Amino acid sequence: MARILGVGIATLDIINTVDGLPAEDSEVRALTQRICRGGNATNTLVVLSQLGHACAWGGVLADEPDGTRILDDLARYRIDTSACRLEAQGKVPTSYIALNRRNGSRTIIHYRDLPEYSFADFSRIDLSGFGWLHFEGRAVDEARRMLELARAEAPHTPRSVEIEKPRPAIESLFPLADVLLFSRNYARSCGIEDAGAFLYHARGLAPHADLVCAWGDEGAYGLTRDGTAYHSPAFPQAVVVDTLGAGDTFNAGIIHARLNGFIWERALRFACELAGKKCGRVGLDVG
Ligand code: ADP
Ligand code: FRU
Repeated sequence: MARILGVGIATLDIINTVDGLPAEDSEVRALTQRICRGGNATNTLVVLSQLGHACAWGGVLADEPDGTRILDDLARYRIDTSACRLEAQGKVPTSYIALNRRNGSRTIIHYRDLPEYSFADFSRIDLSGFGWLHFEGRAVDEARRMLELARAEAPHTPRSVEIEKPRPAIESLFPLADVLLFSRNYARSCGIEDAGAFLYHARGLAPHADLVCAWGDEGAYGLTRDGTAYHSPAFPQAVVVDTLGAGDTFNAGIIHARLNGFIWERALRFACELAGKKCGRVGLDVG
């Protein structure tokens, strides 16, 4: 088992389960409401912690009751939060989520006004001893400097970067990663509807990285640095109840599989199986 550092967001998720998404300008009553910690990087770490890894998080919270609630949740999963920056003012980033009971789809309205985790914060972390470094591709200029520092200080530690949304200059992160974890959303933003074709396009920008792209209920696609292409189907569930965090769980599956020396074909399959299992149940407890 490895020490893993994840850099990215933690959020407060307010999840209303609804029986079908409401129409605009209508009013519906939620069937249930759940309020919990979320956020891509911390979701991934919570899954990795359940897979037996010693995880640490670098990110920002506000010093207010919901910030404490998030720290308590991370402590429950034994995640080291000593590199977290606490802002004296402000509110933790909050997601208002409609979870459709009919198909498990999630629709998110996300609000944040907290500053992002900075290069200065990151440069205070002792990177020695980590077996894997995972970054969310956000605040691109800061992330680029973090990746450059990680490459210089811990050249043999794998660096994965999640590319979830198109952002200005996000492609400048590609050459700094060993593993790029793309979303369908990002692929589509490049005007490409086919995951395989997208990965060949991305390869032109990142020939030295292994590339992965999750594609919802079609599973996931991979293209390794030596040019081998893979696909794993999704693992269908009797009932899909909750797809919130499926991509974050998938990313945890890839990191775990690679740390354990799985070849890419098996790693994709493992990640899809783990993410599928997550879709069949509420929340991120995958044990
Ligand atoms: P995100 O949460 O970022 O939108 P995806 O929807 O691409 O991520 O899903 C990530 C992974 O979760 C997929 O590669 C697939 O393995 C699994 N998955 C997603 N939706 C389903 C589903 N309906 N049934 C089974 N597995 C699913
Ligand atoms: C799921 C998630 C939620 C969070 C939102 C942030 O992938 O991390 O937990 O509210 O995305 O974009």
